[in-house]
Amino acid sequence: MAVFTIILLSSVFNRVSFAVLDTINGVQSINDGGTNLISKGESFELGFFSPGSSKNRYLGIWYKNIPVRTVVWVANRCNPINDSFGLLKINNSNGNLVLLGQNKSVVWSTRLLKQAQKTKLQLLDSGDLVLRDVNSNTIFWRGFDYPSDTLLPDMKMGWDLRTGIKRRLSAWRSTEDPCPGDFTYGLEFNPKLHTFPEAYIRKGTAKFYRSGPWNGLRFSGSPELRPNPLYDFKFVLNDDEVYYVYDLKNKSMISRIVMNQTTSIRERLIWIEEEQTWRRYSSVPRDDCDIYGVCGANSHCAVGDNPICQCLKGFKPKFQEKWNNMDWSRGCVRNVPLSCRDRYSDGFLKFSGVKLPDTTNSWFNQQMNLKDCRVKCLNNCSCMAYTSFDIRGGGSGCAIWFGDLIDIKQFPSGGQEIYIRMAHSELGKSKRNVRAILIFVAAIGGVSGILLLVYYIYMRRGKDGNETINQNGSQEEDLELPLFNLSTISTATDNFSANNKLGEGGFGPVYRGTLEDGQEIAVKRLSMSSGQGVNELKNEVKLIAKLQHRNLVKLLGCCIQGEENLLVYEYMPNKSLDFFIFDQGQGKLLDWTKRFQIICGISRGLLYLHQDSRLRIIHRDLKASNVLLDNEMYPKISDFGLARIVGGDQIEEKTNRVIGTYGYMAPEYAFDGLFSIKSDVFSFGILVLEIVSGKKSRGFHHENNGLTLIGHAWTLMKEGRPLELLDEYLVSSYENLAEVLRCVHIGLLCVQQSPADRPSMSSVVLMLGSQNELPQPKAPGYFMEKDSTKGDTSSSKPELSSKNEMSISLLEAR
Ligand SMILES: *[C@@H]1O[C@H](CO)[C@@H](O)[C@H](O)[C@H]1NC(C)=O
Ligand SMILES: *[C@@H]1O[C@H](CO)[C@@H](O)[C@H](O)[C@H]1NC(C)=O
Ligand SMILES: *[C@@H]1O[C@H](CO)[C@@H](O)[C@H](O)[C@H]1NC(C)=O
Ligand SMILES: *[C@@H]1O[C@H](CO)[C@@H](O)[C@H](O)[C@H]1NC(C)=O
Repeated sequence: MAVFTIILLSSVFNRVSFAVLDTINGVQSINDGGTNLISKGESFELGFFSPGSSKNRYLGIWYKNIPVRTVVWVANRCNPINDSFGLLKINNSNGNLVLLGQNKSVVWSTRLLKQAQKTKLQLLDSGDLVLRDVNSNTIFWRGFDYPSDTLLPDMKMGWDLRTGIKRRLSAWRSTEDPCPGDFTYGLEFNPKLHTFPEAYIRKGTAKFYRSGPWNGLRFSGSPELRPNPLYDFKFVLNDDEVYYVYDLKNKSMISRIVMNQTTSIRERLIWIEEEQTWRRYSSVPRDDCDIYGVCGANSHCAVGDNPICQCLKGFKPKFQEKWNNMDWSRGCVRNVPLSCRDRYSDGFLKFSGVKLPDTTNSWFNQQMNLKDCRVKCLNNCSCMAYTSFDIRGGGSGCAIWFGDLIDIKQFPSGGQEIYIRMAHSELGKSKRNVRAILIFVAAIGGVSGILLLVYYIYMRRGKDGNETINQNGSQEEDLELPLFNLSTISTATDNFSANNKLGEGGFGPVYRGTLEDGQEIAVKRLSMSSGQGVNELKNEVKLIAKLQHRNLVKLLGCCIQGEENLLVYEYMPNKSLDFFIFDQGQGKLLDWTKRFQIICGISRGLLYLHQDSRLRIIHRDLKASNVLLDNEMYPKISDFGLARIVGGDQIEEKTNRVIGTYGYMAPEYAFDGLFSIKSDVFSFGILVLEIVSGKKSRGFHHENNGLTLIGHAWTLMKEGRPLELLDEYLVSSYENLAEVLRCVHIGLLCVQQSPADRPSMSSVVLMLGSQNELPQPKAPGYFMEKDSTKGDTSSSKPELSSKNEMSISLLEAR
């Protein structure tokens, strides 16, 4: 009995003394059938094994404390030893780890670059196997750099750009054979072309599944990859490394990611202690739409669609018949080819909720903003799309795609935004050529500006008789302006809920809404109509709908149903220009580049109104609060409430009712009621001076000399001190001082006293875009304050409210 106890004890001691062996040095070795290496915390074990029923011997690492033998790493994957004489040792002459097979032939070894080191081998509790310098402990080689089919917590999947090591999983050929099979999984990235990195599963060389690129929060194609109770994850991208790594929240849990040949999936498994089994936590590909390129080029795949493949908006099947037969491989082509003439000949359509396309032909930059990204894309004819590189904090950086867009998946929720390039004619084509009856009901004074403009056009055309108006009461018309269903708008605005209310205009409330396709809209709900029918207006509405320019706010459509008269505009998230330039805090957000972009945009919008559209339109109420900003801070002129259409050759018109906003009104208009495109130019000049100075023209009053903003600007210019005019926030962005001064100069040219001296908008656009010398401005209108003792000039000159202006103008028109 005693003898038995001693034997038992000694065997326990033996085990214990060997179990703590996690390291071997140059004089030790591991041989098949001998003692295995076991990590300190006893998580992992290294030794020889035979997979399944195979007799082949491999050197591998498996979980020590799991009864189901689960191998996570194999050394000699394709080079088995077919007897039991395998031996792992350190080559003392060069420090390499070598695995010897029959008759001492080398079946596997590390290949250290630095030779003749004294090294030791250690198995870590992470499952990593490291070869270290005996003295310095520096790691020369590690098993985690050469993964098999398993990604363990803390193991980097990706590239070390300094050493060129690419860590990629490859499936076992079968459960009996650890030699790599067809399926591999890893990050791909072309450092030379600076492509947007993402993870792919490949089957052989063919792409099989794509994670979508990392967007700062997750891989774009994995909306479900979010904070979770099991693991944390991160993606690292810098000059040295690109990798994905995860870590378990509870270190006593056991979990791994494995690429499986048999099932063609990459799965994440958790060890369930109670059931003594592995359970699948997640896997990819998840559905048919995850299969790479299933829909061909320029299309998108949505599991909920029938069929799952659809061409992107603006594209059509390359071969319609094949497409109809569910052969989507040939993909889609553009309805209208890109013109790529200049920066403005093409535009972009925004697509939401997608997995970003294949990044093989992509490029990224982490510093650029979305606006510069767009410009970068427009400047290269092969650029097809752009988006933010990182979606955190409202988005930053730039990613652009060249050539066909492949493998876009559409998610029902989550997913990302991308801007896809389109010929201009494809933009704003939400017009569906609705054949519809449009009955415009006349409105009392409170009808929105668009209706008023419509009315004006009607009046003028009617008077001049130079345009055929369909007055025969035919109520069916091909309208290019879409008619929205009341229910659509109701849903979009959450039943006109108070939460969605943006404000109350003179004509009724304005609501914010989101259409089903994600497009954001602003809905003007007009006050109840007077009931007087003005059916003829429908002809004119078509004209308004044609007023389309990137620097004009777009009317997307209308809804006339029952008592409801709704006008649907594109939504401008960034409010109006006055909100930024006159506000201390907000002003900082507009650096010179943005301000210049805004000035240029307004000038082009105005030029379009004056000259390029089919109608010659005088806006008459250009001011900072009528310039809206889109999410990239591009300006859009809005509120055509006072706009007048003048005949093509007509330059000036006279009105008895001077309406507009004091502070922006040209003198000849304010005093004599003469308005012309040159009075708009005057307002533009004021706007430019306001944008540069950050000061309101109306109410500006210099403490010392009682000068107006214009007079102040002119005086500073004359005295060679124009810089003093600048908004303090611009002082820090001085890179383009010449441009700033040029704008002041142009502003002063626009506000000259005599309309004839002021440049036309086409000259202004040219002057803004060139370096040519500018003419000297003559003295401006409104040099001095009429009554400089009064700070607020509105007391000496009534400013009419928009509502009043409207009613007055309408009466006048009648
Ligand atoms: C090892 O021995 C086997 C047979 O015993 C022989 O076929 C093989 O060539 C030998 N390998 C080396 C490297 O000597
Ligand atoms: C961590 O996991 C172990 C084993 O599953 C469990 O017993 C323990 O309660 C967990 N700890 C926490 C903090 O969740
Ligand atoms: C692959 O999946 C099959 C089925 O779930 C499983 O039997 C097999 O063990 C897996 N292979 C690996 C290497 O995990
Ligand atoms: C456009 O981008 C492609 C792809 O990166 C590049 O090869 C080409 O040189 C670029 N063209 C211009 C004009 O920059």
